[in-house]
Parts: sequence; structure tokens; C-alpha cells
Amino acid sequence: MNEWWKNEVAYQIYPRSFKDTNHDGIGDIKGITEKLDYLENLGVTLLWLCPIYKSPMDDNGYDISDYYDINPEFGTMQDLEELIQEAKKKNIKIIMDLVINHTSDEHPWFKEAMTNPHSPYRDYYIFKSAKNGKAPTNWRSVFGGSVWEKVGDTEDYYFHAFSKRQPDLNWENPQMRQDLYKMINWWLEKGIAGFRVDAINFIKKDQRYQDGAVDGADGLSACFAFSRNQPGIEKFFEEMKRETFAKHHCMTVAEAVGVNYPDLGIFIGDQGCFSMMFDFNYSNFDIGEDEEWFKRKTWSPKDYRELLFTSQREIQKIGWVASFLENHDQPRSIDKLIVNKEDHNYYSKTMLAGMFFHLRGTPFIYQGQEIGMVNFTRQSIDEFNDIGSIGQYQRAIEEGYSKEEALHFVNLRSRDNTRTPMHWDDSEYAGFSDTEPWIKMMDNYKEINVANQLSKEPSVFQFYKKMIALRKAEPILVEGDFEELSEMPDDVIAYSRVSAEGTISCLCNFSRNSIKIRNIEGIVLLNNYPEYQLGELKPFQFVMIKQ
Ligand code: GLC
Ligand code: CA
Repeated sequence: MNEWWKNEVAYQIYPRSFKDTNHDGIGDIKGITEKLDYLENLGVTLLWLCPIYKSPMDDNGYDISDYYDINPEFGTMQDLEELIQEAKKKNIKIIMDLVINHTSDEHPWFKEAMTNPHSPYRDYYIFKSAKNGKAPTNWRSVFGGSVWEKVGDTEDYYFHAFSKRQPDLNWENPQMRQDLYKMINWWLEKGIAGFRVDAINFIKKDQRYQDGAVDGADGLSACFAFSRNQPGIEKFFEEMKRETFAKHHCMTVAEAVGVNYPDLGIFIGDQGCFSMMFDFNYSNFDIGEDEEWFKRKTWSPKDYRELLFTSQREIQKIGWVASFLENHDQPRSIDKLIVNKEDHNYYSKTMLAGMFFHLRGTPFIYQGQEIGMVNFTRQSIDEFNDIGSIGQYQRAIEEGYSKEEALHFVNLRSRDNTRTPMHWDDSEYAGFSDTEPWIKMMDNYKEINVANQLSKEPSVFQFYKKMIALRKAEPILVEGDFEELSEMPDDVIAYSRVSAEGTISCLCNFSRNSIKIRNIEGIVLLNNYPEYQLGELKPFQFVMIKQ
């Protein structure tokens, strides 16, 4: 099997916030093409584009109204073709976001299903009748409120796991599935390298449609137990793989939150549907299992290490993973992982970079991470764009928290934290646009921006660049097995990558203090300090040693 995707270094682009070229304050495809030189200089080899399909943008493109067309705010199909070609000249591949758990409520299938209950498209979605005059079940949607939306003044409801403008497709319908496969193949034939597959573990629902135990003041029950990771989902995965992905040498990355490790085999590995997956078990460490942001969990670097290492060990038994610290749904990693703001600096940012980047898997960098962008703390709930943030705020209020507390939870976790425009330089609007952007800019762009890190040594950007170059030069960093380095202090995350060619160890100090460790000798390949003193790690030091 040609597993070319193991060698890639991926970079995630949130097109709305990457680069605007036509003066409307919204990032566009031409902006990505314009920045290919930058991406080439950084060294990344593959881009994941968040959705650019036609969409009313209720959930910023994760609500698609036409899978075969580009949303005009991003440009045209021709712009995309040009981007694919230009990227190819630089050996940069492109993967798209594949959103097939749901569509927009403006998709023609759904519009037809709503206006004509006898249309074949009615069964492309999940419609159920009221039960005892109420919604069919008491399940809570991911963004808050019931998963059921009433159809006009009828007794019928339709199902949505996310917003009410994102009706779920009915995967039990074989004709619907065929229509999706046709679309997937159409895109793969167009020359894209594959897909990041959105919320894919939601496609199977518990067909009994029974109430769950009430778990909130809203009288509802989190929908996850009934609409995520359901038994039988593997049948859909097998068919989709056979009909689409397996016919192309493509790369697929599953977004699959809440997967239990014994179930990994249906996602990845020889029998699994996807080339790799994102494992959120080590990413959602600060919130409870049902992903409600007000249910904060206390944690220590040692707890985090345990989650990270368990993930590496379990995945290594079966297949491949996509390693990440940030994405468009997560806060900035520096704020999430280094709790004290006084500790946010070059050392802590590069320590985190070194820690995640050399794990076994294909690394994914989220735009702005490579220059150390930070969270945006907002003063009022009205300043948020993300529907998830608004839903979570309401949930916290319902549960009895004050407005200040609710705002605090949202600021810590808001998906808008990573959706602010990219900082290219220190001019007005940070070189992202020459007009006011669609979402408020961070005010620290004069200090944190690409222009002042491009030639500055040391800088977070230069560190990322070095890591990427090293990975291309050292096969151990791609192929090597993961092994924990034992007998380390609680605040140190240390592991090795081991292959027949040798051993490379990564030592990461998660604390603001110098720490004594046992001697790890060898050649220093990468270090965020000028020196490495045997038996010691400086505050937030990252060092990589070849033994
Ligand atoms: C995924 C996306 C997220 C979106 C959701 C619904 O989790 O990453 O941004 O809101 O799916 O499509
Ligand atoms: Ca634009």
C-alpha cells in the first residue's frame, strides 16, 4: 500500500480568515494562492481547506447548500482550480473538508423534503412525528437546544445534531448514500489529494429513538449516546471506502470525537475507512465528556501526558494518526496548555510545538500557530460570531452560572479564538485585508505577526521551519515507533521515536522552573535554548536528541 500521506506536513487554512484579496474583509481562495510562497517557505506539503462550498454560512460553511459549487465570497471554481495547479507546482497538495453528516437547510434536497412530504428527498433526512404532543426524543443538540425542529404547524419534526440550519442526512437511505459517493468521486477526480471528513462518527443514529436520562436544567439529554459512534456505523464506512476512497490514492482524515480505543479499527488501519484520524481524547482534556464548556476539569501536565501517551500507544497498535494542537474548533494551544499568561513566551510556545510535532503521526499546523497567535478574550457575548459559543453561553446561564462566569467559560473555549484574521504584518488590519474584517482582529498583531518573524532568529516561525526541515531529513521522525521515556518528573513530557535506523528523543519541560532529569545523552538536533546541560531542563525547554 502506498501510504504517501505519512510523509506530509499538513497546514490547516480557515479561508475566511487567511487573506483577503478583493477588499471585502473576507479571506478568499485567491488569497491562499497569493500566500503559496509563504507556505512553501515554511515547508508544509499539504493544505486542508475548511469548507469553501456554497453555503448560507450559518456555521461558517459547515452548512453546505451545493457540494458542487464554491461560495461566491471565496471566489469561483476557476480560482480553486488555479490554486490546485499553482500549489502542485510547489509540490503542495490540497485536501478539502467533506461535510456529509448534514447539509444546509438551503440545500435543494432539504427544501424539496420540506415542501413536499411525498418527495423521495423526504427520506434523505430524518423526519419523525411528535410523541405525546412533544418532540420525538429529549436529545440535546451539540450547539444547545433540542435536536428536533418542528416543521411549520405540522406534527412532524426533523433531526439536527448541530444547528437547526444543519439538518442531518439519513444514511439509512441507500440512494442518498449513492448521491454522496458520486459527489466525493467527482471531487477526487478533480485533482484534490483527499478530504478531512467532518463529524463522520455522527452518521449512524440509534434507530430506537428513545429518550435518554435528563442531564441538564434544560430537561434534555446529550445526544452523543444516541447519535455518535453507534454500532453498525462500520457498514456505512466500509461501503463509502469501497465506493470512493479506495478507488483513489487519496488521503482521508476523520474528525471523530469520543471514539473509544477498542473501536479504532473501524476508523484507521488496514481494515479502517480512513488513512488517519484526529484523536480528541487528548485534546478535550479540560472539559467534561459531553463537551459542555462550563463543565471544566482540573488537570496537570502529568494528566495530559497520560492522555497523550495512551493515545500514541493505542493508535500505534492499529494505524496512523493526525497530530494536532489547534484547529478552528479549539482555543489557541498556548492559552489552553500553559495556564499562566506570564508564562506565554517564545520558550513555552516552541516547547509545545516540539512536543506535538514529533509524535508518531502526520502533523497538522493550524494557521497562526506557527507564529504563536493567542486567544482573543471578549468582553460581552454579543462580540461572538460562533454559534457554538452562543449556545454554550446559554447553557451555562441555564445551569445557574452568572453572566460573568458564562462569559469566562466561553472565552476559554470559544471557537472564535482561532478564527480571528491571520497576522501578516503590523499595518492596519495586519495585512489580512485593507478594510475592516468580518470578525474583529486581535489587538496584538503589531507584536505577533509573520513579517517580524520571517527574518528574526529565534522566533516561533523559525522554529516551526526548522522542525519541518528536520522531519523531511530524518526518516526516524516519520517511521519510528513511539516509546515513552520513563522515570521523568511529573512536569516533563518525554518520549522517543525508535526505528532500525536509531532513536530520537524529545524532552519537554512543562514548567516555569528548571528541572533535574536523568541523563539523556546524544547529539542535539533541535533546542529552543542555546544550550543543553546534561541532566537538566531549563524553564519550558524543548530539546531533541539523537542517540
Ligand atoms: C465539525 C467542525 C465544526 C462544525 C461541526 C458541524 O466539528 O469542525 O466546525 O461546527 O463539525 O459541521
Ligand atoms: Ca475577499
